[in-house]
Amino acid sequence: MQTVKYFKRHRMELPLRHPVQPVELPADYRWLAWSDGLLAMHAEVKYLSFHQHADALVFPSLGTRGGCQDLMAAIRFRPNFCPQATWLVAGPNGCVGTVQGLIDDNGYGGIQNLGVVPECRGLGLGRALLVQALVGFASVGVPRAFLEVTANNDPAVRLYRAAGFRAYKTLYRAVQLPHPDTVAVGL
Ligand SMILES: CC(C)(COP(=O)(O)OP(=O)(O)OC[C@H]1O[C@@H](n2cnc3c(N)ncnc32)[C@H](O)[C@@H]1OP(=O)(O)O)[C@@H](O)C(=O)NCCC(=O)NCCS
Repeated sequence: MQTVKYFKRHRMELPLRHPVQPVELPADYRWLAWSDGLLAMHAEVKYLSFHQHADALVFPSLGTRGGCQDLMAAIRFRPNFCPQATWLVAGPNGCVGTVQGLIDDNGYGGIQNLGVVPECRGLGLGRALLVQALVGFASVGVPRAFLEVTANNDPAVRLYRAAGFRAYKTLYRAVQLPHPDTVAVGL
């Protein structure tokens, strides 16, 4: 048996009127620009960032390694993939943050799947990745950026608001979930 749950999401937007100033990474962290050889690493960091997060209920593909690989490949091979807005952050022990960019039919830049692994949150990496993607969009003439965020994802909403994004639309995403009575616990 299944039940449908509706997740409230905001579409947030930001005009890119002025040159966007990049944010410096903390010491010991560095940028990895997009290359096809990094597709699997983006998928892995996406998985590590999201699989224990509530967004993995909203987008079940974020909850498994295979789902993240498929999602990353789908993004990469879309004709509107924007490599300039797609970045990894590497730390002393490997990659810890990811963001991808797509350009929509209006020429607006869509921020996709911004994620930082749990043990590296609160260091400024999420903000740096967001701004780095915006710098990438601005470098190819994108006039406006947008993203979607689950309404109760406070860290993400605060980050986007602090960067100047504002909510323009509320959306509800319907997700089929197993009915609570049918979930077997401890088997
Ligand atoms: C959202 C996320 C990317 C933020 O990454 P981060 O590296 O921790 O963020 P930063 O350290 O750059 O923090 C930037 C701002 O985010 C907000 N923020 C970060 N962590 C927060 C928390 N635990 N609670 C509330 N706000 C928080 C704050 O506004 C913070 O600004 P401040 O430093 O002035 O307080 C990270 O929490 C994450 O990967 N979450 C899981 C995946 C996800 O939800 N992605 C967004 C999908 S839309």
